[in-house]
Amino acid sequence: MTGWKPILRSDLASDTLALQRFVRQFQRVPKTFFITTAIDYTNSPPHVGHAYEKVLADVIARYHRLKGDKVFFLTGVDQHGQKVQQSAKKAGIAPAEFVKGTTQKFVDLWKKLDVKYDAWAATTDPLHKKCVQGILQRLFDEGQIYKDRQAGYYSIRQEQFLTDKERGSDGQFGPEWGEVEFREEENYYFRLSQHRDWLLSYIDGRSDAVIPDFRQKELRNAVERLSGDLCISRPKSRLDWGIELPFDKDFVTYVWFDALTNYISFAGYDPEMNNYEKQPEEFRERWTKDTIQIIGKDILIPAHGIYWLIMLHAIGFPDEAMPQLLVHGWWNLGGAKMSKSAGNIIDPIALIEKYGVEALRYYLMGDIATGQDADFSEERLIERYNVDLANSLGNLLNRTLTMVAKYQDSRIAFPEGEWLHYPDEDPTESYSDHIVKKIGIYKSHMSAGRTLPITLPFTFGSFVVNAAITNILEIANQGNSLVENAAPWKLAKNISEVSKIKLNAVLYSLAESLRMIAILISPVLPKAAHGIFDQLNWKMELSGKDQRFSLADTEWGRLPDGHVVGKPVPLFPRIEC
Ligand code: MSP
Repeated sequence: MTGWKPILRSDLASDTLALQRFVRQFQRVPKTFFITTAIDYTNSPPHVGHAYEKVLADVIARYHRLKGDKVFFLTGVDQHGQKVQQSAKKAGIAPAEFVKGTTQKFVDLWKKLDVKYDAWAATTDPLHKKCVQGILQRLFDEGQIYKDRQAGYYSIRQEQFLTDKERGSDGQFGPEWGEVEFREEENYYFRLSQHRDWLLSYIDGRSDAVIPDFRQKELRNAVERLSGDLCISRPKSRLDWGIELPFDKDFVTYVWFDALTNYISFAGYDPEMNNYEKQPEEFRERWTKDTIQIIGKDILIPAHGIYWLIMLHAIGFPDEAMPQLLVHGWWNLGGAKMSKSAGNIIDPIALIEKYGVEALRYYLMGDIATGQDADFSEERLIERYNVDLANSLGNLLNRTLTMVAKYQDSRIAFPEGEWLHYPDEDPTESYSDHIVKKIGIYKSHMSAGRTLPITLPFTFGSFVVNAAITNILEIANQGNSLVENAAPWKLAKNISEVSKIKLNAVLYSLAESLRMIAILISPVLPKAAHGIFDQLNWKMELSGKDQRFSLADTEWGRLPDGHVVGKPVPLFPRIEC
């Protein structure tokens, strides 16, 4: 190892402080941080794709709690509709009973997966019904909803009328539409296309309306092509498992006015008030332009990017209160989207039983880049767990505690003077500086994109949890390299004073690194984070509680002199296959 001579603390302190100041700016988000997910259809049980989205939201929500923000995390289930009605019929039970069963499966999964939400949106809830009906009535009274007759080809699978645009080059409707029949029907329509120009101007005025930006471009193109209005009803004769239109009891509202409104009905929205400013304070505090709505790429266009934004605009939300849409990709299997109809779903419960919750959370967050697709592979899950968690992080924890027990009787010593900032391979930068820098990068990856000083040596996207995880891993790897380079077993044999100082500094740096890692990894792996703190014997009075972790504690040098660490216990036993 080079750079054995200590670096003057005065040199380092200024760098470290500057970095810590930079890092602190990410800790400021004033209002409640409101995050939502898509609500899942309850016609079939959850699969890994559903689990991914909810864990992603949970990780971002936990990260904000870690920052000290007040968080409101809303998720839930989409319980009405034709598919549920059909599945219930097939099962020979009433739709209400049917959705009770599938809803419970989602609730149980989120509990098992440690998805910690603050409110639960179930669309059969009377509170939601009141909100949907209030909104529909207002729009009807304002002439935004009208009745019309439509005749044409209808896709039973996609539950929509088709136009010639949906025909393939052979003039036929492709297999994606399933059975197609000719239908003539009266229904209610929402004046969608009237708001097209507004939507274009909103999108053009906000470069991060949709994350990632290539999705914003896709949305813009789709809005340019927008024509026609949105059918929002079904006659009860055909579908009665839905919310009745308040102005016509022969119809229920269909799909989007029921599903999308969940985001506001469960956040305290008052349907009587026709503009945002008149909404209850609690609602306005939650719902701002920083509200993050996580959705899959299949429901950006047209559902969220067009219908939802226009609906919000039509019911009186100003541009300054339009949410941000965070669009994730799909987990595929062998290149094809995982879905019940394709028969290629992966059951998250089976994976949890086999590998544990944390292994699944880690894989789902670590092996897909936010916004992109990924191919699900059990081999990769095992590999990522074994390499990153068992070999790197688990090993660092184990060897650190073993060495502190062996060489220091389990008691770490606060490094003297300059040695607090242990010099690493690069003599111009200390070990602690490396870590503070990595924490800064981690924070930027976990946040929505912001403008940063261009001098910083990294680029980042928004909510790229996988990249944030890589940073944590780099801290663990750096700790392992420190062990190998500094060889504490040699230092322990040498009785010189300088060896003793170095040994203290190395072991202290390792323990501090583990303390940082636990905090940073806590949004992704809450149980493992507690495991690390328990073994470090740190903040034991908060063991098991989320408040144990705070980003404000990621300042170097918090472990006190003489702190006694616990016994090493394997945290990530290798998965043998
Ligand atoms: N109920 C509608 C959404 C209404 S939101 C007001 C719906 N439900 S869903 O159950 O089909 O999908 C719920 C979410 O899971 C969507 O965001 C969807 O993109 C996501 N996923 C479903 N399958 C997926 C994968 N295979 N991979 C990743 N996420 C995918 O759409």
